[in-house]
Amino acid sequence: MPRPPAKNCVATNSGTSALFTSLNAVGVSAGDEVIVAPYTFIATVNVILLHHALPIFVDTDPETFQIDARKIEAAITDRTTAIVPVHLGGSAADLDTILAVAKQHKLPVVEDACQSHLGEWHGRKLGTWGDTGCFSFQASKNLNCGDGGAIITNSDEWADQCYSFHNQCRPRRTSSREAVATSSRGGNFRMTEFQAAILLAQMTRLEDQMQTREQNADYLRGLLKEIPGIVPAKMYDNCSRNAYHLFMYRYQKEHFGGLPRKRFLEALRAEGVDCNAGYGMLNKEAFIKNSLASRSWQRLFPAEALAKWEERTACPANDKLSEEAAWFTQTTLLGPRSDMDQMAEAIRKIQKHAGDLAGGTPLHAPRPGPVTRGLT
Ligand SMILES: Cc1ncc(COP(=O)(O)O)c(C=O)c1O
Repeated sequence: MPRPPAKNCVATNSGTSALFTSLNAVGVSAGDEVIVAPYTFIATVNVILLHHALPIFVDTDPETFQIDARKIEAAITDRTTAIVPVHLGGSAADLDTILAVAKQHKLPVVEDACQSHLGEWHGRKLGTWGDTGCFSFQASKNLNCGDGGAIITNSDEWADQCYSFHNQCRPRRTSSREAVATSSRGGNFRMTEFQAAILLAQMTRLEDQMQTREQNADYLRGLLKEIPGIVPAKMYDNCSRNAYHLFMYRYQKEHFGGLPRKRFLEALRAEGVDCNAGYGMLNKEAFIKNSLASRSWQRLFPAEALAKWEERTACPANDKLSEEAAWFTQTTLLGPRSDMDQMAEAIRKIQKHAGDLAGGTPLHAPRPGPVTRGLT
């Protein structure tokens, strides 16, 4: 069966702009609630706050690192205006369950596909399932041009809305400045010609790199699952292609003589393996509480709703995951297969010497590490 492409694309200057623009198009506004994953990059939540809406976090499925779609329905209220699942790390959130709940409650779905270029669900591209799909081309991404983004959608109506919002309220289908604007609000969130030119060149090697990542990730998964205490993230059965922006796994310190995750990652870096601890408990971050305490939110939401927000958005599974998670980033998966052998070997070595490391004895002096890449 041919894979249906998205009918429309609006190119933006970042993934954040793509999400911000999409939320406006599907009608998110001040005083609304938006359902979102807590295990994600901060931008997914910032765009909700920028619309003066309330982020409602739904806990994470620790097996997959994705939003636990089975818990979305219970979070819906009469203020809910959109669902924003994130296809974290390039793997897919459980779209079947998300789309069924969204359909039942007539809610739009904005897919945060910022990490999942060419990823698939049931053989169809991520980003084409929801009302809109948002991509990032920021420097760390599998497809990048320094900074940049895109919105794809099969709806002409959403495309018109997105275009107008990202281009100062000007309409998509005419160059006339006199024409009536499609969007009631807008700004400049356009991609530049320079970003587009770089992207066109980058796209020529995306598929090749994708295949290298997939082969290395499959091989690495096979090696790591033999190591007790290293639990690679699972994919949902219907995720037919993982973009492997991240190789995510859980580190269970009880299998490493109690060696704290921080020390495990330091030891791994000392062995020359680039790695990091991943995201945290976004639902507990101060910037959200500051927003809720501010005059705008106090005016927009009943005091009782704001008082109950913390309890309502508690995510115990995500809290635990945030303490166990570890990642390798996509560039690590672009090397030769021997790199994967060395990564697994380094972990086995740390496990063997975990007792010494827990007692403070380094395996050897830290080497100058690989280039540190920021969290994405
Ligand atoms: C899941 C996710 N959402 C949103 C963004 C925001 O994209 P950008 O940095 O292009 O604004 C990123 C990446 O940075 C991301 O990883």
